[in-house]
Amino acid sequence: MSTNTATLFTANDVPSQQGRRVLITGANSGIGYEAALELARRGAEVILPARSMSKANDAISRIVREVPGARLTPGILDLASLASVRAFAAFVGEKFPGESLDLLINNAGVMAVPARELTVDGYERQFATNYLGPFLLTALLYPHLRRKRGTRIVTVSSGVSNQGKIEFDNLQSERLYKPMFGAYSQSKLADLIFQLELQRRLSAAGSPIASTGGHPGYAITNLQTSGPAGVMPLGFRIVSTILKPLASQDAAHGALPTLFAAASPLATPGGYYGPSGFQELKGYPVPAKIAPAAKDLDLAKRLWSETERLTGVNFAV
Ligand SMILES: NC(=O)c1ccc[n+]([C@@H]2O[C@H](COP(=O)([O-])OP(=O)(O)OC[C@H]3O[C@@H](n4cnc5c(N)ncnc54)[C@H](OP(=O)(O)O)[C@@H]3O)[C@@H](O)[C@H]2O)c1
Repeated sequence: MSTNTATLFTANDVPSQQGRRVLITGANSGIGYEAALELARRGAEVILPARSMSKANDAISRIVREVPGARLTPGILDLASLASVRAFAAFVGEKFPGESLDLLINNAGVMAVPARELTVDGYERQFATNYLGPFLLTALLYPHLRRKRGTRIVTVSSGVSNQGKIEFDNLQSERLYKPMFGAYSQSKLADLIFQLELQRRLSAAGSPIASTGGHPGYAITNLQTSGPAGVMPLGFRIVSTILKPLASQDAAHGALPTLFAAASPLATPGGYYGPSGFQELKGYPVPAKIAPAAKDLDLAKRLWSETERLTGVNFAV
């Protein structure tokens, strides 16, 4: 796809979503909320789990104010807990049995948790929330995705994936913990590797389902302040303060690459989209730079196997 075809994509270009059921994680805030709002506006039925029912219901109230009559289902999902992911997937299976989903958007994430934290499963919090939980969720919901063209699995990565490194001897930051350009960048590179490897497996299986992805550039959301301790590293705060007025965009614009990957007829299977501007920080969605490590096929296979082991799931496409 050429850059120009995507350059002016806005929320108005999201095609009708009538008859489509969408599940989006992290939709109570930021980019996920904006994407859910636009998909609901176009007629999608949206399942939006959050870490508490009150957060999910609060997002639903805000969407209904904008889109009266929107069909929205709340749920509880903590991606940092494998048991919670399993319980939520079971809830979806019971409420919407069979092949009932048209779009899964793995959007939720945390960034730069200041000090290394372990989840209930003993995994580093960013790797678990941003990557292991979404991998398990996708594997468990895969049987519920309709086997037809137009069905998509979207994974939200980050431009920081370019600085990421998959360190198999340090996946849980057990050797060294670097909040941003360590644990976070590794988790977002893992997301991108997953998105691309998933597409290869879908293609090999002859599946009509597409795996696409995107990153929002630099969008002003709760992400910059919501690390569990609420404190960002000093270096990151300085860089963000300098970049913010020049190179950031609001959450609605940050949601455009996700919406493009999720719904544009111009998005290609395996396509990865980000903003068009300087350093892919802001702008309209265009094909984004893919880190060389994300193109390493052996690395992708090894990471997939290791992730199956860590999450206890056999993800056969
Ligand atoms: N904003 C940017 O500039 C930027 C740049 C690159 C990539 N991204 C990516 O974009 C995605 C969305 O981030 P955002 O900027 O919209 O940030 P945000 O406003 O903080 O939204 C993040 C969402 O993820 C949810 N979440 C966090 N931990 C979770 C968990 N353990 N289980 C389930 N949900 C959890 C949050 O829920 P709570 O409200 O409960 O915390 C929130 O709904 C993330 O994957 C992020 O890595 C953002």
